[in-house]
Amino acid sequence: MSKLFKLTALTMTCLVLSNITFAKKVYEKQGPPRELTLEQASTAKANYQKYCVLCHGENREGHKNDHAPSLRAKSLFESGVPHSVLRPISYGREGTAMGGYLDEMGGPMSLDEVWDLTYWLFWQSGAQRVKLTENPVDGDIVRGAEVYQENCASCHGVNGEGVNAPALGNQSALAHNKDEFIRYAIEHGRQDTPMLAFNEKLTAADIDNVTAFIRSRASGWKAEKIVLSELPTPDQYVINPENDDPNFTLDQGMYVSSKDLYQAIQDKKKMILLDTRVASVWQRAHIKGAIPFPYYTELEGHSTDLPKDVQIVGYCSCPRAATEHVINQLRELGYSKTAVLYEGIFGWMNLGYPVMRAEGIVDDAEEPQH
Ligand code: HEC
Ligand code: HEC
Repeated sequence: MSKLFKLTALTMTCLVLSNITFAKKVYEKQGPPRELTLEQASTAKANYQKYCVLCHGENREGHKNDHAPSLRAKSLFESGVPHSVLRPISYGREGTAMGGYLDEMGGPMSLDEVWDLTYWLFWQSGAQRVKLTENPVDGDIVRGAEVYQENCASCHGVNGEGVNAPALGNQSALAHNKDEFIRYAIEHGRQDTPMLAFNEKLTAADIDNVTAFIRSRASGWKAEKIVLSELPTPDQYVINPENDDPNFTLDQGMYVSSKDLYQAIQDKKKMILLDTRVASVWQRAHIKGAIPFPYYTELEGHSTDLPKDVQIVGYCSCPRAATEHVINQLRELGYSKTAVLYEGIFGWMNLGYPVMRAEGIVDDAEEPQH
């Protein structure tokens, strides 16, 4: 038997095998969404540069900060417009570094701008949309849980909390992502990311099973409309203006720990707290006294509202990237009394320290641990 023939025979066997066990679903194609005018496209590109590069990267490659996913993987745009692209941009993914950018949530973009950015990302990806149904994917949840622990938990976390990959158990993601979208991602993977296509590793039935398992984690979530708070004015920026400086000892000349910051707040030290996340998440919850100072704030002009002789501490959820970006710029402008909260706001909350929630509810049920 010639070598070539052997190879062909092997390939044939694989093909036959794959037809039996790894049956691929055939999807219908869908027409492209609307085109953008040159002007809309250039605004969308500028918005991407201003708001998204920090985490999703200069070239939409993702994984620049905080494991933000790729925004150019074809499989996302084949399957994901609008639910899985427009909605996270609008409302964010609660409990992750992805905040909402829609103005009605307290973000910086109008609905039109969010649509245009969604379409711009779609056109940049070069994808062709496929038709996915809104129908649930049926599967065996118990078997799906096994498949999940064996194949997915190392990256997505034992409880779907996300380790170095998106939080599949995230309630806002589950609310926005349809079953077939999830299934499609598992089947096709995400090009040029660690997320491989599982259509060659798992049977079609197991892809259904794990999809059904992921879906079973959803408990129902709605983007709550909150009453937007008025933004603080410069005369309200400094907390405890009459008191002393906290005199922090900064780790690596940059970082203050949650413990030290909490102590300084308890001791009523004079400080300015900057919340450097997208402003919509400041609206939902922030450390008491913090002012919204998003990472995309134009410092020219705005920074004159910040005194140079008061200790400034910034925090974000990514857990430091956005704040380091702001603090480094401030230091260049001569603000030497500046620091970054080391653990970020999620670390702060996990340690049991309090935050102010929308409508003034203070979440300090647990006493901080020292
Ligand atoms: C501070 C970091 C950060 C910034 C800034 C940010 N994102 Fe994200 N984004 C994330 C993270 C982290 C996730 C994944 C969250 C999760 O675990 O589900 C995400 C998820 C997404 C998703 C869902 C993708 C998917 O595969 O499910 C989209 C779409 C998205 N971001 C678009 C944007 C756009 C557009 C901007 C700018 C307007 C932006 N993001 C700004 C961190 C960020
Ligand atoms: C080696 C790490 C790794 C493993 C193992 C892995 N994933 Fe992923 N997964 C990722 C990463 C990273 C992403 C984000 C990719 C990107 O940048 O778009 C992702 C994305 C996804 C998405 C898309 C989420 C969204 O909102 O767009 C789904 C769904 C998913 N994975 C499901 C699974 C399932 C189910 C398994 C197991 C069968 C699995 N993954 C195994 C790393 C992994």
